[in-house]
Amino acid sequence: MSAVLVVHGGAWAIPDELAPVSVQGVKAAARHGSSVLRSGGSLVDAVEAAVRALEDNTVFNAGHGATLKIDGEVQLDAIIVDGKTLAFGSVSCVKNIANPVSLARAVMEKTSHVMLTGRGADKFAESIGIAMVPTDKLVTECERKEWEKHKKYIAAVNEEFNTQWAHDTVGAVALDSAGNVACATSTGGTRHKMVGRVGDSPVIGCGAYADNISGAVSCTGHGESILKVTLARLILSHVEQGKSVEDASQLSLQHMGDRVQGAGGAIVVSPSGQWAATFTTKRMAWAAAEDDVLWFGIDPKEKLKEKLSL
Ligand code: GLY
Repeated sequence: MSAVLVVHGGAWAIPDELAPVSVQGVKAAARHGSSVLRSGGSLVDAVEAAVRALEDNTVFNAGHGATLKIDGEVQLDAIIVDGKTLAFGSVSCVKNIANPVSLARAVMEKTSHVMLTGRGADKFAESIGIAMVPTDKLVTECERKEWEKHKKYIAAVNEEFNTQWAHDTVGAVALDSAGNVACATSTGGTRHKMVGRVGDSPVIGCGAYADNISGAVSCTGHGESILKVTLARLILSHVEQGKSVEDASQLSLQHMGDRVQGAGGAIVVSPSGQWAATFTTKRMAWAAAEDDVLWFGIDPKEKLKEKLSL
């Protein structure tokens, strides 16, 4: 069986001027994650590397370039999951960490817990030598302007995810040739969110899930809606009942739209090598490295390909 690595750069109404850089960013992240896997790295190494590349790219709402919460600071969430053991680590409400996905991995590997939040997560990072960065270092000029521009719409943040200005999350899922799966998700969350608000991304079964029995999922979209329907687990439960990963994603996203009026997207890989990138928002940039092909797209039903050069 071929190894597969799929990434997304967030489901939302990506404006035309951001479309080329978004596609370029997901393609670069998929290439990077795939090269880690091909050079002998583990699945967890590969999804972490792909998500770090997206966190470091200011185009995306994660790490450097994340959206600002109501008080004008970043507040980041991330998770990483190993489908072989069901081990996972997650962090929420961190603000001085450039790569929250790596801190989530450290929670998974270096503590007896699975989730750390806020000051405790920052203190843990410091204790294991993860560099603390001044919050302002993670803020881009572009995001500062967007935050100012949309201040007057704060009350609508939760209800209006599908409007033109919503902005969301990055993630990766991967499969190795032995049928093991893993995933990771990282986000700055919703712009103008309340201090202390936690979205779906760091919550197991919601923003991400991986189990060698059924597959790996990374979700994106309106966090409160994803949490209500436990989207990642919902997708995998459809897979467990015999649906293809594409149908399972579409059914689950449709259910989220019908049941709680939420929009979003998901990338999924199954242990048998099926994969899908699906969304109910206007756009979602995604890329998938499989054999010597790099698949990618941003608009609904778009599936382009080029030779994978690592
Ligand atoms: N999907 C990311 C969030 O709502 O926080």
